[in-house]
Amino acid sequence: MKAAFFLTLLSLACLVALVQCHGGSRYDLLGKLMRAQRSKRQSEGHSTESMSTEYSPVYTGPQDGLKEGDRIQALPGQPNGVNLDQYSGYVTVDPKAGRALFYYFVESQNSSSKPLVLWLNGGPGCSSLGAGAMAELGPFRVNSDGNTLSYNEYAWSNVANILFLESPAGVGFSYSNTTSDYDKSGDKQTAEDNYTFLLNWLERFPEYKTRDFFITGESYAGHYVPQLSQKILQNNKITNQTVINLKGIAIGNAWIDFETGVKGMYDFFWTHSLISDEINEGINLNCNFSSETTISDVCEHYLDNADAAVGNIFIYDIYAPLCSPSSNSTRPISVFDPCSEDYIHTYLNIPEVQKSMHANVTNIPGPWESCNDAIFYGWKDQPLTVLPVIEELMVSGISVWIYSGDTDGRVPTTSTRYSINNLGTSVKTPWYPWYTQGEVGGYAVGYQNLAFVTIRGAGHFVPSYQPARALAFFSSFLAGELPSADET
Ligand SMILES: *[C@@H]1O[C@H](CO)[C@@H](O)[C@H](O)[C@H]1NC(C)=O
Ligand SMILES: *[C@@H]1O[C@H](CO)[C@@H](O)[C@H](O)[C@H]1NC(C)=O
Ligand SMILES: *[C@@H]1O[C@H](CO)[C@@H](O)[C@H](O)[C@H]1NC(C)=O
Ligand SMILES: *[C@@H]1O[C@H](CO)[C@@H](O)[C@H](O)[C@H]1NC(C)=O
Ligand SMILES: *[C@@H]1O[C@H](CO)[C@@H](O)[C@H](O)[C@H]1NC(C)=O
Ligand SMILES: *[C@@H]1O[C@H](CO)[C@@H](O)[C@H](O)[C@H]1NC(C)=O
Ligand SMILES: *[C@@H]1O[C@H](CO)[C@@H](O)[C@H](O)[C@H]1NC(C)=O
Repeated sequence: MKAAFFLTLLSLACLVALVQCHGGSRYDLLGKLMRAQRSKRQSEGHSTESMSTEYSPVYTGPQDGLKEGDRIQALPGQPNGVNLDQYSGYVTVDPKAGRALFYYFVESQNSSSKPLVLWLNGGPGCSSLGAGAMAELGPFRVNSDGNTLSYNEYAWSNVANILFLESPAGVGFSYSNTTSDYDKSGDKQTAEDNYTFLLNWLERFPEYKTRDFFITGESYAGHYVPQLSQKILQNNKITNQTVINLKGIAIGNAWIDFETGVKGMYDFFWTHSLISDEINEGINLNCNFSSETTISDVCEHYLDNADAAVGNIFIYDIYAPLCSPSSNSTRPISVFDPCSEDYIHTYLNIPEVQKSMHANVTNIPGPWESCNDAIFYGWKDQPLTVLPVIEELMVSGISVWIYSGDTDGRVPTTSTRYSINNLGTSVKTPWYPWYTQGEVGGYAVGYQNLAFVTIRGAGHFVPSYQPARALAFFSSFLAGELPSADET
């Protein structure tokens, strides 16, 4: 049973590798994860963690003076005239094991008046530096030559101070001197390390200790962001260490619930003309994705057919071109370049770049990869749903926003809407088109304790495809106001 499970995973991995050779798609780890959860067929139960009332102090090491050492003079290939304060380096989260997490921090102009925002990518096991910072919302994009950078005028650092974290250890430049740590990765360990990271980082950058703090992320970070937030709120009540001023979270195309996620994905396939009526009907008649039910062989058969019927497209943005030699050109920031992942891989492996970022100071085995497959396969705990955690956050008083790029086929808008329906909250501001730059940027609904916003024409990695709309959305989120309904 277990062997069969791993074989399935392996053959899927090869399939994905193949797609990658042809199309340069990002590692489809989330797709693999769904199939893994699917083939387990059995519920692991809900993720409601018991509230711990006892506080065990978190390791904090001396951070005095480390901040200046982390300052980046300039990134190699950075365009002239860009005036930005950037920092990067390591924060030790476990001195005994020798475990340290790598971060990249971009300060906004007038930084003291702007909030602090942590950005997390998903995977599990993918880098927030490679994806979030370099391909999505960071101040720079890597050009097609793989060694120069362009300025991203829609960077989220225009309106906030943004912290990118590579986590857990084993991802990107983050590492552990105790390699057995890599086998222990799971949601829980990750949230704990991340919390320890934050506390130590705030000691290194003490001017941010009481600043308004937000956590944002996409994809499988639909698990981490709520889990880390829950941990922060729990610890805030009982800690005698730093109280983190958490104000809100935003999660995009977020994997938060298996049942509605899978159902919504296949419904999206059909409504977007990716699969036939026959397959769709087969799924509707034979599949029940409830955690109380095992998935039948007939259902499994139709799901496999559906996955194959879609063909070789970039499922994270169904209308995007694939990466091919003819797409080899440097495009404006507002035009998605499907090969950007390759440029980033080249850039972050240049020794001079690593040196400028204070990365890889202990000679960790390379190359730098945007996702770590071994971490993915070793992932320990992954509850089928985090909806109970989200419900807890909704009543805690922090703002909870869920957004969705509407051309993503992996965690599509349909999945997210089904998930929200299961939260059983009520509508306060009915569905409306929101505008930016004189066009519909997407649609929004205000719920009791929750906001839902779509970004029109964006795939899974929202700021990569629609940078202007993404920045407009993000600014609304920080302001705590639904995006503008004003057409002008
Ligand atoms: C890991 O080991 C290297 C080499 O001994 C050492 O320089 C480094 O500080 C260690 N990392 C941590 C986080 O302790
Ligand atoms: C920074 O603050 C100064 C003074 O308050 C203001 O004139 C300037 O426009 C601000 N710049 C930005 C980028 O917000
Ligand atoms: C947490 O862990 C995930 C797992 O890798 C990681 O992607 C994310 O950047 C981390 N940050 C927090 C604070 O959850
Ligand atoms: C915080 O509480 C822990 C456990 O109760 C204790 O060991 C520690 O000394 C306390 N720290 C401070 C700064 O009071
Ligand atoms: C799926 O199975 C569950 C548990 O057996 C059941 O309660 C539910 O009604 C079923 N859903 C559908 C759509 O048949
Ligand atoms: C991409 O463009 C660069 C610069 O124009 C060129 O040197 C390189 O050979 C091209 N690569 C491919 C695969 O066409
Ligand atoms: C770290 O540096 C060494 C030596 O330059 C290199 O071989 C290795 O690939 C680098 N590791 C990563 C993760 O980039």
